Amino acid sequence: MAELRYNPLLDTWTMVAGNRQSRPNMPKDWCPFCPGSGRVPDTYEVYKYDNDFPVLSINPGEADPVGSLFYKSMQAYGSCEVILYSSEHTTTMHELSLLHLQKLIELWISRFKELSADKKIKYIFPFENKGEEVGVTMPHPHGQIYAYPFIPLKIRTELNNASLHFDQHHECLICRINKEEKDFGRRIIYENKSFIAYLPYFTDYPYGVFLAAKDHINYLPQLNKEQVNELAEALKVITGSFDCLFDRPFPYMMNFHSNPVNSTDYPGHEKYYHFHIEFYPPLRSKDRIKYYASSEMGAWAAANVAPVEDTARQLRSAKLKYLSGWDKERLRTEIVKEFVQFYGESQIQPQLFSAPARVNLIGEHIDYNGGMVLPAALDFSIYMAIRPRQDLKIYLRDMNYFPEMIEIDLKGKLQHNPDVRWADYPKGVLKVLSDNGYNLKQGFDVLFFSEIPAGAGVSSSAAFEVVFAYGLADINGFKIDKKKIAVLCQKAENEFVGVSCGIMDQFAVAMGKKGNGILLNCATLEFEYVPLELNDYSLVLTNTNKKRGLIDSKYNERLGECREALARLQKQLKINDLCSLDSKTLAANEGLIGDPVLYRRARHVVTENERVKIASQALRQGDLEQLGRVMRASHISLRDDYEVTGIELDTLYDEAKGYPDCIGTRMTGAGFGGCTISIVKTIALDDFKKCVTAGYRSKTGLEPSFYICSVGDGVKKENYKRS
Ligand code: GLA
Repeated sequence: MAELRYNPLLDTWTMVAGNRQSRPNMPKDWCPFCPGSGRVPDTYEVYKYDNDFPVLSINPGEADPVGSLFYKSMQAYGSCEVILYSSEHTTTMHELSLLHLQKLIELWISRFKELSADKKIKYIFPFENKGEEVGVTMPHPHGQIYAYPFIPLKIRTELNNASLHFDQHHECLICRINKEEKDFGRRIIYENKSFIAYLPYFTDYPYGVFLAAKDHINYLPQLNKEQVNELAEALKVITGSFDCLFDRPFPYMMNFHSNPVNSTDYPGHEKYYHFHIEFYPPLRSKDRIKYYASSEMGAWAAANVAPVEDTARQLRSAKLKYLSGWDKERLRTEIVKEFVQFYGESQIQPQLFSAPARVNLIGEHIDYNGGMVLPAALDFSIYMAIRPRQDLKIYLRDMNYFPEMIEIDLKGKLQHNPDVRWADYPKGVLKVLSDNGYNLKQGFDVLFFSEIPAGAGVSSSAAFEVVFAYGLADINGFKIDKKKIAVLCQKAENEFVGVSCGIMDQFAVAMGKKGNGILLNCATLEFEYVPLELNDYSLVLTNTNKKRGLIDSKYNERLGECREALARLQKQLKINDLCSLDSKTLAANEGLIGDPVLYRRARHVVTENERVKIASQALRQGDLEQLGRVMRASHISLRDDYEVTGIELDTLYDEAKGYPDCIGTRMTGAGFGGCTISIVKTIALDDFKKCVTAGYRSKTGLEPSFYICSVGDGVKKENYKRS
């Protein structure tokens, strides 16, 4: 029994499918959509699979004789197809290549053509339900196509309103909505030549994106090659942004709204309505559902819990995050587009700069003790788009964390605002620049986007300062070399932000070189590049994801302890800093320090400085075993003598050290949370992640995250393509 029952209250049809109730429960470890199941070809890229239990079919049975003269029924004629996006069981739409997505769209198109050739079909509806929140337990990526013998009510409502609008304004309603959104701008999520994605003014879901064709196109088969490519790109970016929004697989319903087929009910509909995709994601935050409950279902009175101008901003930031993992060139283009979105068009093109994160291979808490360190720049960065203004105002916006815009008046005094701490970094830079005679003659509009996780101990703040200082210097024609930029930025952090950091971070961020570590003497700022040739091994950062508090005060406390130990030693020894000593001399003078804690602090500094020399030599000789040994010794020293590790870092250390293909591991950065750095055999990376995650999770209850490091360049100006 499968039939359509007429609903006289709503003037539409309910599809009643008795056979769906008898659907067998699938075995847990079996998937009919995977090659080898016997249900699909052994190899395929995309595939149309006939629904095993269709509610609509071309051979529908007779309706149950339970109706009446009043209660009408109709045969459930039509079609229900499953569209398999890939043979890969666990992939998802945005992980598919553009080429692959184009094939998927071609399949939708060919299905649309074939289904619409049947004159009894009145509406064709491709859709996808994704995620357990919408009742999908089968992870294999797939959507469906229903071909109905009637036009569904929601579509009819849209068509009726579009028709009325056309009568009054002689324009397609979807074209008009596109135009409104385009003019307003702030709800646009993504746009290419052929498609525009936005959170419409009226949308009832906080993240309810509409993706609409820009040209007045009624049906999928009308898309030309270029439009197919651009739809593929837009789908990839939108679904990728969804998954980046809360760093979790994002559930949604994706619904293709096209014009009706074979219907005489809506004469002229081709003119007043057009193809677009509506997404309904049932989340209002990371783990809170947006229910379609009584008001929505019972009265069709939607309640959106969030102003979509805000959620659009979140989605645009998620989009940049997605692009950063997919395609850096697109990322750069989009950052500049965001800039123009915020600040408007102008004759003068914005310029784009970037400064990377850094990792320290070895030499921890050494820079403020005058010794050697061995950091490297990473290949994820903070970006800054910047354009001069006519007045003396600087406007700063950040795409990641901070919704507020900062205004700085160059005529006024630079002041701290305790409510907007992040602004201290650029303000500090402005202050040191002007203290050093670099005065700005005009203001700037500035937009930041950072790929660098904050609080992970990879120097997001140094990157922030350095990109700002370097960009300002470049645009204003100040001749400041990168080394000096680093020194000025350290000063900004020490004097304005109030953190007494050493020079290592700013130096690495400014001076980094692709494929190289920087062996830096922090007393003299002499340095050399050391190639990081790890052959079959990779550098892996593992983030404890511990929330760090009070780190600045702990940091300043250690600095104070080192100064005290030095002062006590200087009573008898002629030294400028702790790193002027070797460990033997220090041991011989333990009595001068006269305090076990201070002595241990000094011992860490002195032995760590020695380890840096051994490590750099080992690197040059390709002796990774030796490098690994001193890394481990460094961690022990930071744990026992310097006491800056803590349970999370120590657990990560223990887990990594116990892993056979991990040759060396240690905490990196200031400590008290943040990351470890490990050298792991490249082919074992996945297993390493799995094992470390399991151990770390069970001992700390936290989830670690991993970054495979690629060593990149320091601060630089970036080219970008205008779209
Ligand atoms: C922080 C500081 C650096 C350095 C490290 C520890 O990252 O900013 O100057 O002292 O800690 O090595």
